[in-house]
Amino acid sequence: MTMHDTPTSALAQDLKAHTGRFTAKAFDWHAFPSNEGFPDLARAQMRYIGAGGSPKVGDTSTLKPDHFTLSLIYKEPGRYAACHSHEIEESFLIIDGALIVGWEKDGEVVEVNLGPKDMILNAREIGHGFRVDGPEPVLMSISVDVGKPLPPKYHYHPKEHPAELARTFGAEPGKTMPFDPNGAHPLQKLMAKYVVRHAELPTVWDPAGFTRKVYVGPGGVENDTCRKEMLGLPSRVGVKPFVRDVEDAFFVLEGSLTVGWEENDEVTEIELGPRDLVKTPAGRKHWFRNDGAGASTVWYVVGSEKPETVMFEAA
Ligand SMILES: [Fe+2]
Repeated sequence: MTMHDTPTSALAQDLKAHTGRFTAKAFDWHAFPSNEGFPDLARAQMRYIGAGGSPKVGDTSTLKPDHFTLSLIYKEPGRYAACHSHEIEESFLIIDGALIVGWEKDGEVVEVNLGPKDMILNAREIGHGFRVDGPEPVLMSISVDVGKPLPPKYHYHPKEHPAELARTFGAEPGKTMPFDPNGAHPLQKLMAKYVVRHAELPTVWDPAGFTRKVYVGPGGVENDTCRKEMLGLPSRVGVKPFVRDVEDAFFVLEGSLTVGWEENDEVTEIELGPRDLVKTPAGRKHWFRNDGAGASTVWYVVGSEKPETVMFEAA
């Protein structure tokens, strides 16, 4: 097949239909109705799997979620998201920039500064907001579980509270604590269980020849929804076909990744670049490989919190 041939087999078309290309999508500046009319709250969303926190569940350009959603959020310097909570669990993986995330309880707020490849899992029912204080815009990947997609409950929205209080997530002056993973305050202790620093997370070399950092799941943040890992693939490393009983998704952060599918002795592959995604449904035989000269970094979400069931074998 040459570069611009149109895939014709049903399997190739199905793989294409499960691929989200960054360049085929657009950022939506009107994904969150409660932000309308408040320029300080403006943010843009790009949907890959499901609608995430947006009510735009009918968007046919996104993939149907099974156990999790995945979207990108873009936020410019000086803007923030008002403190809210929901019944679903939500993870923020920072891709670019520095993001302040605040957790609030009874008027006290702990703020953590997250950098590229750091993550926080916002626990269910905990008041949380975020803000861009630095000079760079923030791009992050958000995933939520699809359990109970109720609208967020706002705690300190500028509609009902002074703008200064909303910007600090509900903390009056003197009530904001910088995050301290060893802090004694109950809110510090709680947040410490949900913040993941890329550099502090152990790098595990899989016997198949690539690195894994487990963000959510055994060894990372404990959770009852999904496993989330960051994979690092050296050039020319790949794995043999494997099958899961849940869906998984590869979202490329750096480099490129070739993803293959097999069914009835037919095979098809697709190459992903940065910010492209493939979601593979449960039961489908699939594999991945880095054909590039440089390493690739991939955010990997698996639709089950159970310990890994796949033993990867080098291809
Ligand atoms: Fe949220």
